[in-house]
Amino acid sequence: MKKPTLIANWKNAPGSWSEASALLRSLGQKRLLYKRLNLFIAPPLPYLYLVGEKASGYSKLATQDLFPEERGRYTGKVGLDILKSFGVRMAILGHSESRALGESSAQVSRKTQVALKAGLTPVVCFGELTRDRDGEHFDFLREELKASLHGLKKNDLSKIFLAYEPVWAIGQTAKEALDPLGLSEIVVFVKKVLTDLFGRDAADRIALLYGGSVEASNAGVLLKNSGISGFLVGHKSLIGKDFEKIARSMLEK
Ligand code: PGA
Repeated sequence: MKKPTLIANWKNAPGSWSEASALLRSLGQKRLLYKRLNLFIAPPLPYLYLVGEKASGYSKLATQDLFPEERGRYTGKVGLDILKSFGVRMAILGHSESRALGESSAQVSRKTQVALKAGLTPVVCFGELTRDRDGEHFDFLREELKASLHGLKKNDLSKIFLAYEPVWAIGQTAKEALDPLGLSEIVVFVKKVLTDLFGRDAADRIALLYGGSVEASNAGVLLKNSGISGFLVGHKSLIGKDFEKIARSMLEK
């Protein structure tokens, strides 16, 4: 069986090199546990080298975004060649926090194609801001997926991850994560949208992740029977003990 995927999205943290080192020390103590998962760490760019040095035995590197232009003079940007030279293998794209700063689905689709061309695994994030009883968020999700995956070919679908991250469930201040039933419903819905766009075979090959207040108390039940392949974890990935518990509960049968 394929290992479940776990992505640690550190966002703009830890706040210093020494805190990042301490977190890596704590993760490293559980390296045997993490090796049983398909673990990626997406640190802020200045920590790439440190994470690559300390955690390469049990995890792979991801970037939280990418700059989609080829080599050239771009002050303030970090190109894909540089990221790849540090060992980056995956790119989180279209995160709601990047979308909130103005990133469009058209940009996400462009970045996804650039990542694929460069041999990186794109993680295309999508998710509604809020929910209402009339289910209007399904229309939103369909359009966001369609636009973010624009330009991809059927065969590309087996090379990417989709990450469903409802914005209302993200972050320490979120009231709740999605419940398992709600997640199963989303899996069926996403497969239907992908079938309409790319055909049944391609849709069946998609690996879907969930993100939004994943913690030890809900990781196990969300993973079990819902049809997802793993998690994108934010704030709990910054606390060694909590992250360890999430990893453990993903492996429980
Ligand atoms: P959270 O973040 O786990 O802190 O809710 C998830 C994400 O934003 O990827």
